[in-house]
Amino acid sequence: MKIKALYPGTFDPITYGHGDIVARAAVMFDSVIVAVAASPGKQPLFPLETRVQLAQQVLSHLDNVSVCGFDCLLAEFAKQCEALVLVRGLRAVSDFEYEFQLASMNRALMPHLETVFLPTATRYTYISSSLVKEVARLGGCVDQFVDPIVIQALRTKLCLT
Ligand code: COA
Repeated sequence: MKIKALYPGTFDPITYGHGDIVARAAVMFDSVIVAVAASPGKQPLFPLETRVQLAQQVLSHLDNVSVCGFDCLLAEFAKQCEALVLVRGLRAVSDFEYEFQLASMNRALMPHLETVFLPTATRYTYISSSLVKEVARLGGCVDQFVDPIVIQALRTKLCLT
């Protein structure tokens, strides 16, 4: 049986931390779909289409990885995609409580959907998309956190030179 995994997130924008989780999941599962949530409540900097395009470009070297946007319940999207596994990265113990709640809710909504947690690589444990945006907005260097394609997109969006 081929196992398809879904890696959901807002990816506003995708970082090297996300990329690390995707690359490792791509080794574990037959295919991985990076599911980019619309997440209107988070008022993303980049529109959904741009976030999908950036993830596609950054992850284009991974053959069994595809990227899709979605604007519905995650469990419903997983069902549509016929994904059996949700992948989530854990950066610190503080992530666990929320992640446990999310996994339990998703399993209640779709009993066959299992959540697999991957520990985030140590060098990326303190990264979040919001922090990257803040550092970039204030003129800091984000080279070690995001792909050059994302840096260019941030420069354009934030009107930086
Ligand atoms: N490396 C670097 N950063 C990471 C990371 C990693 N490995 N893992 C997470 N992060 C960052 C993310 O970039 C995000 O940063 P931000 O808050 O500054 O944007 C932060 O950590 C939180 O990540 P996450 O918990 O994955 O939040 P998210 O907004 O990216 O994704 C969804 C949350 C989309 C999975 C969730 O809201 C969802 O499922 N939405 C769909 C609607 C739904 O079904 N809701 C009911 C769920 S039961």
